[in-house]
Amino acid sequence: MITFDGEKGIFKLDTEDSSYLIALYNNVLYHLYWGKKIPEIKRSADAMFSLKGSSFSALDIGVKWGRSADIMPMEYPTYGAPDLRTPAMHLRYANGSSATALRYSSHTVIKGKPKLYGLPATYTERGDNVETLSITLTDEFNNIDVVLNYSVWYDYNAIARSTIIKNKGKEPLSVLSACSTSFDITDAASFEMLNLYGVWGRERTIERMPLRHGIQMIDSKRGSSSHNQNPFLALLSNNCTELTGDAYGINLVFSGNFAGGVELDGYNTARVFMGVNPFDFGYKLAPGEEFTTPEAVMVYSNQGLSGMSRSYHSLYRNRICRGKFRDIERPVLINNWEATYYDFNEEKIINIAKKAKEIGIELLVIDDGWFGERNSDAGYMGDWNVNIKKFPRGLSNIAEQINALGLKFGLWIEPEVVSYDSDLYRLHPDWCMHIKGRKSCLGRNELILDLSREDVCDYLISRICGILDSANIEYIKWDMNRNMSEIGSEALPADKQSEVAYRYVLGLYRILETVTAKYPNVLFEGCSGGGGRFDAGMLYYMPQIWTSDVTDAEERLKIQYGTSIVYPFSSMGAHVAAVPNHQLKRSTPFSMRGNAAVMGQFGYELDLNMLNAEEIEMAKLQVGFYKKYGHIMHTGDCYRISSPFDSDLSVIQFIASDKNTVLLNICCKQALPNAPFKRIVLTDLESDAVYVREDTGEQLTGGELCTIGIPFVNGDEHFSNILIFNKLIKN
Ligand code: DGJ
Repeated sequence: MITFDGEKGIFKLDTEDSSYLIALYNNVLYHLYWGKKIPEIKRSADAMFSLKGSSFSALDIGVKWGRSADIMPMEYPTYGAPDLRTPAMHLRYANGSSATALRYSSHTVIKGKPKLYGLPATYTERGDNVETLSITLTDEFNNIDVVLNYSVWYDYNAIARSTIIKNKGKEPLSVLSACSTSFDITDAASFEMLNLYGVWGRERTIERMPLRHGIQMIDSKRGSSSHNQNPFLALLSNNCTELTGDAYGINLVFSGNFAGGVELDGYNTARVFMGVNPFDFGYKLAPGEEFTTPEAVMVYSNQGLSGMSRSYHSLYRNRICRGKFRDIERPVLINNWEATYYDFNEEKIINIAKKAKEIGIELLVIDDGWFGERNSDAGYMGDWNVNIKKFPRGLSNIAEQINALGLKFGLWIEPEVVSYDSDLYRLHPDWCMHIKGRKSCLGRNELILDLSREDVCDYLISRICGILDSANIEYIKWDMNRNMSEIGSEALPADKQSEVAYRYVLGLYRILETVTAKYPNVLFEGCSGGGGRFDAGMLYYMPQIWTSDVTDAEERLKIQYGTSIVYPFSSMGAHVAAVPNHQLKRSTPFSMRGNAAVMGQFGYELDLNMLNAEEIEMAKLQVGFYKKYGHIMHTGDCYRISSPFDSDLSVIQFIASDKNTVLLNICCKQALPNAPFKRIVLTDLESDAVYVREDTGEQLTGGELCTIGIPFVNGDEHFSNILIFNKLIKN
């Protein structure tokens, strides 16, 4: 899986379908290749580079003509000695300088993958086919070591990279930027970059643009991975489609400020990079200290975007998500938020629970408003005392009543924030993130607690455990409803204030690690005003995330489609809500709302007592369908056949992990008068296998389905259907 040929100067990292090559020449690391698998290399690395005079670029010391780091494809570039493109790493040394030149010092290859201390990352289990290459580079003048770690996930076609910077000198230094990954691809002028942008309610919209010369970047300076840009980008060949062509994905396993991008230089070399955002960042390293970057997960596929997504999906389902809920079907839930908002009491909740039980729902979640005097979003955050006007007999009693009806009980919390009007703030005004002496802006009437402080994190751990111990709570929705402002901490000196936003995320991870480890039987769902923190870092602690606050089915089809570029459907919370939809006032049929939601972690978010008899029967069927087939969408392979961004038709095909069942989820949002003919063509089925269409009994070969397809007539407004094809097993 990982080999080093010293004579040729090549590190070769192989996954099942891809190869990644790093060249070592004169102790400098160059990026040689990443793409389709190469069985064997005969040439030396040197013979594979086009060398040319470097005109204005300075030459590397001790390196011959044509090999300036400023024009060569580099593997982990640094600034100023003499590369002048965007560096992977930028350090400020005690003498005020920042030029760095890294030279190879040693390397090791081990079986498995070491843990990243304090950071979420892909993890191994016994028997996993993973090896890790660690290359140590040194700048002797500056007394630093930089360790590049590459864990090769052979079966998942993925490489996980992270970097450790070690201060081996006698003076402190500042880490100004430190990418998790960086590499240069030559001949890239025709490539395109794909990213997932958005805002609240319109998360992970797909954007794809040809590369232009210069830097194209995505980032977040919001303190969280954000609604606005997901920590993901893909470099695509210009002929890359959903099912064909080259796709190179880079995804950061991190929930805070990040930056990633591509710099295309005048020689048409694309430098791709991603890591912690260098903006407003600086991390002091005292002598002997080290800084470990978050992990970047890199996936190459020559089967287009869907091929790349399938690798991410299976890796994240199996080796990012953890705990018992990773491997079991999770409960169908009813959440009271859009049913009642803040206006609820014991009676209303019990009435919803009774109806839920009748439908087959398994978990009732009480959302925001169960504590303090919280009847709007005006305040009362931080204390977490049950509102006895709403629940006079307390939280444990309402949980018992829900349990007695045969449902599990779940609760919403937003532990990272505090209101001015709270005992917690009155007692510890210095515990919120702020700049001393300066008034902080409120977001949704909240201040953010300073999770860069150990004492605040310790307090939160004990308070959250207190809530969890106070009743039989089997599910937690962990929300966070604002971005950072006035970033500062009273607990850190002036020269460490630029570490606060980063340390906040480390503090959050420590809380999540402690709490989720202590309560392995509680299902945690992440949320940040919907999908404001939908990233692999959060999925490491919580196997599902509320995908968006927008519950309209048409919009959800787009948001889920965009999210599935990286993240599996099993990680997306998805609910049937009321019509007219509360955010958009749009009405979609109950069936389409159900068909859109069953792809994710399924639930309802409306007052079930407002449903008519027909809808109740449909809800029972939806729950029954989900219980029977949900696993296909959650553990099978996903192929995006038709995009709701490009047309009115959303089609997603899933092939069950045993390959015996195929599920086709079709949703069409507009009827057209006298519509053109349309065929839905499936993909990747065994051509000579026979499939039986469950609703009609019709028999079709895989070959037929993947060529002629099935006719689709766009006749009904909001047409939606789910087709199941079962492979005929010959005895
Ligand atoms: C934002 C979440 O995304 C919603 O689902 C809901 O929980 C509200 N917060 C409650 O304040």
